[in-house]
Amino acid sequence: MTTPLQNRRILLIIGGGIAAYKSLELIRRLRERGASVRAVLTGAGAEFVTPLSLGTLTGDKVYRDLFDLTDNAAIGHIELSRDADLLVVVPATADLLAKMAHGLAGDLATTLLLATDKPTLVAPAMNVRMWEHKATQRNVAQLKADGIHFIGPNDGDMACGEFGPGRMSEPAEILAAIESHFSGKSVTGKAPLKGIRVLVTSGPTHEPIDPVRYLANRSSGKQGYAIATALARLGADVTLVSGPTNLPSPAGIMMKRVETAREMLAACEASLPADVAICAAAVADWRVDVDATQKIKKKPGAKTPALTLVENPDILATISKLKKNRPALVVGFAAETEKVVEHAIAKRKRKGCDWIVANDVSPESGVMGGDLNTVHLIRADGQDDWPQLPKQAVADRLAQSVLEHIQKTRKSTKKRTR
Ligand code: C5P
Repeated sequence: MTTPLQNRRILLIIGGGIAAYKSLELIRRLRERGASVRAVLTGAGAEFVTPLSLGTLTGDKVYRDLFDLTDNAAIGHIELSRDADLLVVVPATADLLAKMAHGLAGDLATTLLLATDKPTLVAPAMNVRMWEHKATQRNVAQLKADGIHFIGPNDGDMACGEFGPGRMSEPAEILAAIESHFSGKSVTGKAPLKGIRVLVTSGPTHEPIDPVRYLANRSSGKQGYAIATALARLGADVTLVSGPTNLPSPAGIMMKRVETAREMLAACEASLPADVAICAAAVADWRVDVDATQKIKKKPGAKTPALTLVENPDILATISKLKKNRPALVVGFAAETEKVVEHAIAKRKRKGCDWIVANDVSPESGVMGGDLNTVHLIRADGQDDWPQLPKQAVADRLAQSVLEHIQKTRKSTKKRTR
């Protein structure tokens, strides 16, 4: 499968900070996904990582000196900065940010940053007091106003022994930011899913016990919202049917907020026809058989009330088995703690959907409550095993898979009608 990074050219500028070592991991991950990486090492950066490591991982020359670029055989600095699709600065030190904000160009890295007409992403890393200093904050505000993209910094323990904002984002987070920068931009610059209607379910459901109490689960809705956003970025016409969450409604998406499984099913049915349905919601399997109209009172000496549960409708199975208006592609999720793939394959068949995103939620996976996810995409004719990724990147990949599937289906329909 092609990723949003396939054939993208990244110019990676490595500043002088302890976090520079993370640039090595980032290069590996970018190249794994089909991007090519050129490394530019600042003088201070060379105190933390060696040109040999960088050259080995990029498989290219490491650019260090402005005056290296002036001989005839070498590529000029304008060309070097413009020959990239994206410039990424890891780590972006207080010094580099200050120079960028003021347009200084005293060395190769800053010259390239000034000479470029390409988007630039910076991952700041510095001591918490340096980050919070008014001068740095002024520079950051200026750079944001100039259109420079930022990832991080994160809060956390710093190499200098302090705690607070200033810690560079992890390679996986920077990678996700780079992937989402590229996803949604087709080669032609058009929205490739324009005209495609997608229904996404997300979040938990709340099943009332009485007017003040309900049964719920811990779903945050993050994965479903990220999927809806990733598809909308590709130009799809997205309806997001969401149970109660704390997340803001994503821009450019038709949002339908519901509480119960039955309301969710009704909202989904009212959103059909659609070309694609992605059921990421953690729908409650059961609800209380009678929803009391008054608050159930605790009476002294009375027996503890017993709740009788009845099964909720299975939204994914219902949509998958529709005779009329069944979306051409129906995708479900399967959170498993063991035999992840085996159970998911069986679930795909049982529910009647086309794909299942099988999600390893075993305690050692760290998925529950975390930002990373390890999934397998199960289809009728095989499976893709994705590496551990931030939930945002899982959403981008799933959106990309949907796009590829639709493009393939369109091609074969054209062939048949010829
Ligand atoms: O059966 P299980 O809950 O493990 O299946 C998970 C998949 O089924 C998810 O895609 C979820 O959104 C969907 N589902 C549903 N309605 C239900 C239960 C699950 O759509 N009542």
